[in-house]
Amino acid sequence: MDAKPRELKEKNVYSRAVVGQCWDRVNPPQSVTIFSPAKINLFLAVTGRRADGYHDLVSVVAPLTFGDELTAEAGERRPAPGGQFSLECDDPAVPLDATNLVLRAAAAFAGATGWASPVKFRLTKRIPMAAGLGGGSSNAAAALVALNRLSGAVLDRPALAGLAAQVGSDCAVFLEGAPAVMRGRGERVEALAAAAARRLRGRRVLVFKPSFGVGTPWAYARLAAAGTSLGADDAERRLAAWVGGTAPAEDLLFNSFEPVVFRKFIALPVLLGRLRERFGLAPLMSGSGSACFALLGDDAPVAAITERIRDAWGTVAFVEAAAIA
Ligand code: C5P
Repeated sequence: MDAKPRELKEKNVYSRAVVGQCWDRVNPPQSVTIFSPAKINLFLAVTGRRADGYHDLVSVVAPLTFGDELTAEAGERRPAPGGQFSLECDDPAVPLDATNLVLRAAAAFAGATGWASPVKFRLTKRIPMAAGLGGGSSNAAAALVALNRLSGAVLDRPALAGLAAQVGSDCAVFLEGAPAVMRGRGERVEALAAAAARRLRGRRVLVFKPSFGVGTPWAYARLAAAGTSLGADDAERRLAAWVGGTAPAEDLLFNSFEPVVFRKFIALPVLLGRLRERFGLAPLMSGSGSACFALLGDDAPVAAITERIRDAWGTVAFVEAAAIA
């Protein structure tokens, strides 16, 4: 990701970062603001069910230039009324209790490091929820990065990744800050080979979501009942062929969840079919949905595509033009 250089508004009081950025240990700030990107899955093969109830997957995940912003402000080291960590959010639909992944990540960080100071988090929410865009996981990763920054980087990258994986299956991938491959239940993350990542980074995408969301546990349960359409060996072969070749991002697109989610939510395949026919796009659902995205060519008629989406899904539909970071 194109990390912005540290910008000190007041010396050592305010600093800006992005998830995935490394910091030195000297003079930890008291307040840090972290960009918390949305993600899309360009390739998502759920390859089988595991004994622990989770599913194995192979996925190419890319952060976007679009996302939330999380500010973390450290207070004095004395008991804070209402608990060590607090969270405010501009979106009233976001839960602010211990179910929020920001607070779960903060508790995990304190448990692992002994961090004892109170911290106030402020979240500016832009990523829609129940969308398959990883908003909650991204916020959790941002919280870990923020706390680590406030602490003067007490945790190294592998330790941070280990904590992220405890908080959520697709949380650790947000520490990469660049397109990455996710395996296992999502916790095994490796950077995408540089030549392959170059074929993704900077690509423009239109992300769009209807007013309804899809629950991830529901989608996994339906997929488990239906059986997987792409096994682990085939998924790895397909991914390796794309990574080792020169084909554009469009050739990578695949999502195991589409058939099961599309069966129930037919507004999704109906619109995607129309975008294919009318604009020659290759749209795909992201994660377990309900958000979808389309990679855009330089001359893509974004206004006309947006109009078509709003025509099908109504003016309440979320539509955002962004790029792969
Ligand atoms: O790990 P996380 O809390 O994000 O997962 C949410 C739910 O999604 C899990 O409770 C599980 O039902 C499902 N899941 C899964 N396999 C994965 C990731 C998530 O079955 N690899």
